[in-house]
Parts: sequence; C-alpha cells; structure tokens
Amino acid sequence: MKLLHIDSSILGDNSASRQLSSQVTKAWQAAEPSAVVTYRDLAADAISHFSSTTLIAAGTTAELRNAAQQHEAELSATTLAEFIAADAIVVAAPMYNFTVPTQLKAWIDRIAVAGQTFRYTEAGPEGLCGGKKVVIVSTAGGIHAGQASGVAHEDYLKLVFGFLGITDIEVVRAEGLAYGEEVRNNAMSAAQAKISEQLFAAA
Ligand SMILES: Cc1cc2nc3c(=O)[nH]c(=O)nc-3n(C[C@H](O)[C@H](O)[C@H](O)COP(=O)(O)O)c2cc1C
Repeated sequence: MKLLHIDSSILGDNSASRQLSSQVTKAWQAAEPSAVVTYRDLAADAISHFSSTTLIAAGTTAELRNAAQQHEAELSATTLAEFIAADAIVVAAPMYNFTVPTQLKAWIDRIAVAGQTFRYTEAGPEGLCGGKKVVIVSTAGGIHAGQASGVAHEDYLKLVFGFLGITDIEVVRAEGLAYGEEVRNNAMSAAQAKISEQLFAAA
C-alpha cells in the first residue's frame, strides 16, 4: 500500500494541520504496517503555479522543449505519477482566505489532468481514480463547516477528489482555532480522537 502525505501549511512547527496530518499518517502506518509513505511538503518545496509555460511544455515533444519547459514537464510528470501511484492520500489543508493555500492549489492543478485522472465522455465527466482513499485534514481559524464560507475550502476539496472519481473521502476537522486556547484545545482533541478511534476502526 502506497500512502502519499501532503502538507501545505506555511506555519511550520506551529501548524495544526501538520500536527494532525502526521498523526493520520502514523495511525495509517500502524493499521497497515506495510504502507510505504511518500511525503511532499508543498510549503518547503513549492510547486510552481500552473502557467502558459506548463501548458506549452505539455504540448511540446521532449526534444523540442527549452530548459524552462523541460522543468515544467518533469514537475508535472513527477507530481502526477506520485498521485496516481498512491492508494491513499492524506491532504493537510489549512484555510487561507476562505480557500486552500495557493501551494495546495498548485498541486491540484498538476494532478487534475484530462485523460489521466479524469476524462470527458458522452455521458459527462468521469473520474479515473476510483480506488483511492483520501483523508482531508481541514483546519481553520474560524467556523466554516456546512456554511457558505466553507465552500471554497473543505467542500472544494471534496468536489475535486470526487471529480477525480474518489468516493472514499474522510475529513478530520479542527476549526475555530483562533477562538482562544480552550476552543483550540477542544477542536484539536476532537480531531485527534477521530484519528485514533474512528478513522481506521474498520481497517
Ligand atoms: C494567510 C492566512 C490566511 C488565513 N485565512 C483564514 C480564513 O480566511 N478563515 C479562517 O477561518 N482562518 C484563516 N486563517 C487561520 C488559519 O486557518 C488557522 O491558523 C489554521 O490553524 C491554519 O492551519 P495551520 O495551522 O495548519 O496552518 C488564515 C491564516 C493565515 C496564515
């Protein structure tokens, strides 16, 4: 089993989503000792924004690419291959300005690839990643779950992974983290309890 662990918070050791995503990965490894983990830190090692160079690189044969296009093509290929190879993905997603960090969006732009992870058919779009399991670690300073303010964050991620055909999606949520120590501690404890008691209960 291959597990891809994605972090995207810019807050380093103070990051709530990093703390929780690490716990999810450890719990997963405990449930599946044979799991091979690939770790990608999108804040420390940012993927460049999807650009015209990225697009032109994709449409240019390898021999004709310049250095910048070659770099873009390799980055796209590596990122996509890592995602396709994974049986399970842990995605740490803090809310920044009502959506996911730009670093995480840049990753999504590289894995949503027509013909590879989804395709358009006469019956409409079809996701090609059906066998994967995803755990979204969703953190926010405010309270957004089930509200309009959360649609571009947690709901958006569910939409993207659903579009890619993934139906096995779990959310570990810690929100209200900016509402003082007590609320923060309670939110983190509830998220940690979900990880240890529920997430792999059926595994
Ligand atoms: C640049 C930035 C933008 C933020 N924007 C929001 C926001 O729009 N709504 C919100 O509820 N919290 C917002 N927050 C608070 C974070 O969601 C909160 O600190 C959360 O813990 C982030 O997870 P992390 O600790 O893993 O980075 C923002 C934080 C930062 C650093």
